[in-house]
Amino acid sequence: MPSPFAADRLPDGRRVYGHRAVVARRALLAGIVAAGAGTAAAAARWGGDGERSLAGADPAVHDPVVHDPAAQAPVAADGPAEPAPGFSTTDPASPWVVVNKQHPVTPADFVPPALATVGGKEVAALVVPDLTALLAAAEADGVRLTLTSGYRSAGHQRAVHARAVRRDGAETAESLSARPGYSEHQTGLAIDFGSAVQPGCAVKDCFGLTDEARWLAERAGAFGFLQRYTAQNSAVTGYAPESWHYRWVGADLVARMAGRGVSTLEEFFGVPGGSQYA
Ligand code: DAL
Ligand code: ZN
Repeated sequence: MPSPFAADRLPDGRRVYGHRAVVARRALLAGIVAAGAGTAAAAARWGGDGERSLAGADPAVHDPVVHDPAAQAPVAADGPAEPAPGFSTTDPASPWVVVNKQHPVTPADFVPPALATVGGKEVAALVVPDLTALLAAAEADGVRLTLTSGYRSAGHQRAVHARAVRRDGAETAESLSARPGYSEHQTGLAIDFGSAVQPGCAVKDCFGLTDEARWLAERAGAFGFLQRYTAQNSAVTGYAPESWHYRWVGADLVARMAGRGVSTLEEFFGVPGGSQYA
């Protein structure tokens, strides 16, 4: 099997670092940090409390593959930094994929190529180094995070959405729960966090009042996690605020979004969103 760090060679001999190489490099680096902090053992202690039912600034022209030389600049072991092409915003295995009511997960039966279990929940393997580091940092601060939900198959999402419709009615449910095929959870890159102190607040507004939610709001970005649905951006995302739902995009992108003053992937990449399904 080829090394995940391998660069593709262009005909003229230049190296191009693709998605796989960049992600693998970041994962390795983060893994080294995480291992140094003893986070594997810490991660094993994080117990989720099970699945619960759900209670354009500066838009770039939308291009499925973002060609931004400053996006990622991996340093080759044997040479200087080279511009990389950036990650796809449509490939569901990409850290930058945009999934919303206008952009379903494609293909519809997508399953992340590698899944791992953290805190009792399955997540995309890409997320693990940053997630374990985040959990270890929270623990060191006395903050007791749990995982309420991670990867959800399209079938699982169908059940979650149907439950929300039964409980809240179709109109309200549409602002709380994605239809099957339209949830970030299917990528394995989205996490619903909970509080071990107040487990009854899982996927409820009261989670936002916990120390765990406050800690996440302040610190999650440093670990590459974006709070995806806020009161300020609900017109863009099409969903009501969810203080518990974080999406891993990588710390580089979180910083770049903050630098541009946008809170949504839609605004950053110039991708349509909103409350209406395509
Ligand atoms: N609650 C979010 C929107 C989802 O179902 O993916
Ligand atoms: Zn969620």
